[in-house]
This record gives sequence, structure tokens and C-alpha cells, in this order.
Amino acid sequence: MRLYHNPASPYVRKVMVLLAETGQADAVTLVPASGTPVAPGSLPVAQNPLGKIPALERPDGPALYDSRVICRFLSERAGGGLYPPPPLLWETLTLEATGDGMMDAAVLMVYEDRVRPEDRRLPEWVEGQWSKVARALDALEGRWLAHLAGPLDIGQIAVACALGYLDFRHGARSWREGRPGLAAWYARTAGRDSFRATAPAT
Ligand code: BEZ
Repeated sequence: MRLYHNPASPYVRKVMVLLAETGQADAVTLVPASGTPVAPGSLPVAQNPLGKIPALERPDGPALYDSRVICRFLSERAGGGLYPPPPLLWETLTLEATGDGMMDAAVLMVYEDRVRPEDRRLPEWVEGQWSKVARALDALEGRWLAHLAGPLDIGQIAVACALGYLDFRHGARSWREGRPGLAAWYARTAGRDSFRATAPAT
């Protein structure tokens, strides 16, 4: 299989962590991909009409895209484990959506800086994106620590990748302040081999 990959992407990192945690790292060849909606560059537009990474080419079917789809496929391929049965599944998928949504907002903030000319940027819009991240962080600290303390699942992987991206691109926002439980959980999770091996280079 071929995985369209960029080491800075938190969505790609979800897939890479899952591959490592399920012993499938050797099952994929990484294909470097970069670009923006304005200049797609080497993004996989033929494999994913949305031109987004990750995208996964398979020998026996059409390419898969969206980290949620790819992670579920690869987990099934390895015999499951990172998706508990219902009813806990619904909590796990909601946690995954929370992590992915934090990534969406944090990546949009970066793109606003990177792609939009300075005189057309809207600071209120950027702060609105950060408000989404901050509310999600507060929800994680306030309501999710018990779930986070349980066995590793795809929701935890998504949240840890989102927090790693905040450190990588938004370190000055100090997300740990006032969230000691989440900070302690993240310190433990980021120490796993799968996270250490996939940390974006600063
Ligand atoms: C980044 O450079 O922050 C980035 C790269 C690819 C996807 C998302 C974010």
C-alpha cells in the first residue's frame, strides 16, 4: 500500500501511530505530499478529489481517504483493537471527532497565516478558530479524563495527535495552562514509542 504522507500533518500522524500500534508499519510505502488548496503541488488530487492527505492506495481497491476511514480500515486489517464495541464505541468516535475538530481549527489558523495575504487576514476569525480549540481542551479536562485513562483507542490517538500539533504550531498559546489532568495524560501518551517515532520535527 502507498500512503500519501507529510510529517507535519496531524491527520497523517494518526495513521502512522495506528500503523505502529498495530504492527503494520512495514505494510505501507510513504509517498511525500505537500501543497495547499491554492497550489496543490504534490497533493494526491487523482487519488482524493478533495486533494487532502492522508490518502491510501491499495492494490485491491480504490484509494481510501480521510484519516477516519483509513484508520478504521487499517485497524480492521490488523484484527481490530482500537475500536471498542458499542456502546463504548460511540464515546470513542466522539472523542476522535473532538481531536480531529481541534486539528481542523488549528490547521486553518496556520493556513490563514501561510496562504492569505497579510492585508486580507481577519484576526477575529483566527481567534474564533482558537476558541473552538480552547473549548475542546476544556471539555477534555472537564469530562474526558476517565476515558483517556482507559486502554488506548482511536479517540485517544486523535486527541494526542491534536495536542502534538498544538505544541508544534501553536506553542505560544500554552494549552497546558489550567489543564493539569490533560497535560499529565498527554505526557504519558507522547512517551509511547508510536508517538515518539512520529513526532514532527521542530
Ligand atoms: C502544517 O505544515 O502545519 C501542515 C502540513 C500538512 C497538513 C496539515 C498541516
